[in-house]
Amino acid sequence: MSCSNLKFQDLTLIRDLFPITKELIYFNHAATGPLSLPAKKAIDDCMAVFAAQAEFQVDDYFAKVKNWRTVVASLINAAPEEITFVHNTSEALYIALVNIPLNDGDKVLVMDDVFPAIRYIVQHNLPYANTLFVPFLGRYPIEVIKNNLAKNLKVVVLELAHYLTGEMIALKPLIEFCREKDIYLVVDGIQGIGAINFDVQETDVDFLACGAGKWLFGPTGAGFLYVNKRHFRILKGLHAGWLGAQWSGFNDCQISPPLYRDARMFELGSRNIVGISALVENINILLNYGVKNVQEKILSLKNEMRKRFIAMDYEIVTPFEPPQSGILTVRPPQDAKAIFDRLCRAKIIVSLRSNCLRFSPHFYNTREEIEEIFDVLSY
Ligand SMILES: Cc1ncc(COP(=O)(O)O)c(C=O)c1O
Repeated sequence: MSCSNLKFQDLTLIRDLFPITKELIYFNHAATGPLSLPAKKAIDDCMAVFAAQAEFQVDDYFAKVKNWRTVVASLINAAPEEITFVHNTSEALYIALVNIPLNDGDKVLVMDDVFPAIRYIVQHNLPYANTLFVPFLGRYPIEVIKNNLAKNLKVVVLELAHYLTGEMIALKPLIEFCREKDIYLVVDGIQGIGAINFDVQETDVDFLACGAGKWLFGPTGAGFLYVNKRHFRILKGLHAGWLGAQWSGFNDCQISPPLYRDARMFELGSRNIVGISALVENINILLNYGVKNVQEKILSLKNEMRKRFIAMDYEIVTPFEPPQSGILTVRPPQDAKAIFDRLCRAKIIVSLRSNCLRFSPHFYNTREEIEEIFDVLSY
């Protein structure tokens, strides 16, 4: 099934692209995104080629990689050469952080309470940096940075949308401030990209790391790093490998074509083309529907749920002020685990985290599904 000729406001057709909608009431995209049929077909197509002829014909392969990069770039309005394919968010964060020119002892400010991805990368891969974890949630990010400002503060690392509470950082004013002070902003975007409209021309981050496994409907094992072109010339050029170079064929492997002088240089070796080809199909679905429409739909579902939870005396953990992510986390007046189990028995899938319930609807979820969820919650 292809998404290119669908009338994209037709919810039935959209839901038909996602087999999970026939099985479950799935409000768990902040955990794992379900694969779409076009993505599954892309995977099957790759497998068919691998089985029948071992590999793509080389010109076809180059053309595909070029097209995939363009599609991924258009999701965030980047240039294709600002996109590096990676295997997960952590790898993208790693590439960004090891490439920033830092001197011994330079300060790296990191949002605390983050998902372990950021934590492990900064703790284990920047031995020369002075890494400091500070609370950002519920605070004005510029004030947080001002309170930790020093001449050698060079990097701020944070989550676009917090994995647990869904709180989103207002990046635009922060970016202006960081630019003035020559501070690099490295953003883990996995809990935002695919759910919210993110345009790097408007929100001019330095690096944006994003795995495919959640709001982009997977599959895990694929993802991308956006590298702002302003930095191409000054990055250290680490994590560069043979497929970061400008090959036009592989007949002579004794030549050494030059590395790309842009984000493409960071692709070390053979790419996960199965995963990337599927990810691209998923992104095409979002682009066809319109990412702004996707965001609007998700936020309207989320706000509908929020109102109902307030009426039921649930504590709303997720802040209401804009900008908003697709995550709604609530703390029930009773034991969250018992309610979670009840939802599971009714084939309603959400996340249980820290005695809270985390709901994360996507654009194909419906108000009828919300009715069913609240029917189950009310008995
Ligand atoms: C904020 C955040 N970052 C990163 C990840 C995952 O990192 P990776 O793609 O490296 O597995 C998750 C969840 O799995 C997450 O919630």
